[in-house]
Amino acid sequence: MGRKLLLDKAHIEGIRYYDTYRSNGGYAAAEKALKSMGPDAVVEEVKKSGLRGRGGAGFPTGLKWSFIAKPEGVPRYLVCNADESEPGTFKDRYLMEFIPHLLIEGLLISSFALGANSAYIYIRGEYAWIPDILEQAIAEAKNKGWLGKNILGTGFDLEIYVQRGAGAYICGEETALLESLEGKRGNPRIKPPFPAVKGLWGCPTVVNNVETIAAVVPIINIGGDEYIKFGIGKSTGTKLISACGNINKPGVYEIEMNISVEEFIYSDEYCGGIKGGKRLKACIPGGSSVPVLPANLLLKTAKGETRMMTYESLNDGGFATGSMLGSGGFIVMDEDQCIVRNTLTFARFYHHESCGQCSPCREGTGWMKKVLHNIEYGKGKMSDIDLLWDIQRKIEGNTICPLGDAAAWPVAAAIRHFRDEFEWHVKHPDEALTRNFGLAHY
Ligand code: NAI
Ligand code: SF4
Repeated sequence: MGRKLLLDKAHIEGIRYYDTYRSNGGYAAAEKALKSMGPDAVVEEVKKSGLRGRGGAGFPTGLKWSFIAKPEGVPRYLVCNADESEPGTFKDRYLMEFIPHLLIEGLLISSFALGANSAYIYIRGEYAWIPDILEQAIAEAKNKGWLGKNILGTGFDLEIYVQRGAGAYICGEETALLESLEGKRGNPRIKPPFPAVKGLWGCPTVVNNVETIAAVVPIINIGGDEYIKFGIGKSTGTKLISACGNINKPGVYEIEMNISVEEFIYSDEYCGGIKGGKRLKACIPGGSSVPVLPANLLLKTAKGETRMMTYESLNDGGFATGSMLGSGGFIVMDEDQCIVRNTLTFARFYHHESCGQCSPCREGTGWMKKVLHNIEYGKGKMSDIDLLWDIQRKIEGNTICPLGDAAAWPVAAAIRHFRDEFEWHVKHPDEALTRNFGLAHY
């Protein structure tokens, strides 16, 4: 059985409530950090742990924290990005719903380390029932002296606020989130300056994902050196993976980052294999923004090495033959799934969610959607496949925020690995909507 650091107590009845959380070791890390470590030691421990941002980008957390500007007399903020909207990703929801105090404790330790006296949880609008759970946990923590003024007599003050989003995917992009938090339309800002220098209301701000902040708790409890032992190389610790698609056991799993993709898909501890005994066709390992991998490149890298559930291994070969761990939204497709239809579904999503600020994204996402729609519905031409390739190339790297790349990469990967399926659609317009895409087509 894999060891757990975040969900190890998730099964305990009542763990959502303060008393149970506390009696099972909760807030011990906060006590340790505030009473015997101090802010700099906490930052050092997080650096030592090698923790990388769990929202998708994998940026080293300790490094991000150390970038925070500290001008005299200017407040600093910690913002928790709970706007989890990446298709296939639902791990943060699980954490907030079942163990909210882990996030509150993580926010307390992280705010202390950063010298932030206000922390915000910006939560996805569709998670309509979770703010109440968080508010209750915050009230409990405040009642017990973990929030408010002079926490544990250290002189450190902290308030945590919950802000609901209104259902826009783009507000998960950190600068759009800050705009929204300031009460404006959620349009991404140009970076740099990064939020660590100029963030919320122009002040230094760290934006971290829910899971990243929660992971600070076990890091302080066990120490950075121990945390490293839960992974391989620069993929340290454990990672929450939300697994969905054609598998026997969809759900949220905590893995040590030292298991293979094959083990994750086929072992009974995790996904339990492909549903109905069908064959694995493809997988999007890190949420809809990352490239799809065909089965042959999913279980082994192009070099023939075992593909591991790590940042490095999933990206081995770059996007030519690899993908990304991303947000851990693991979408598995069996032999009956149609890559063209899936790609169209994602293209529709990105077009709908584009904020429209930059033309390559605003126009390109709509154009890709139309061309994909034509191919899927039997009205495509062979030249449309090259046209699609050209459009995605012109979006990638030419936009203000990563939504443009996120829209381009799935199209590129689908054509790269499944071009014959696109061609089949063009050649068989009458069958395009009624076919069952078995592996016989390859
Ligand atoms: P990014 O690579 O631009 O930045 C990562 C983080 O590091 C940011 O907080 C940024 O401010 C910080 N950073 C980078 N360089 C810095 C510097 N020189 N100084 C100070 N701070 C610096 O990536 P971004 O835009 O934060 O995230 C993109 C990823 O988000 C995608 O790869 C995708 O996987 C993921 N994503 C996740 C979603 C979810 O629901 N979890 C939704 C959509 C995308
Ligand atoms: Fe808006 Fe798309 Fe430009 Fe991002 S890439 S700023 S979503 S138009």
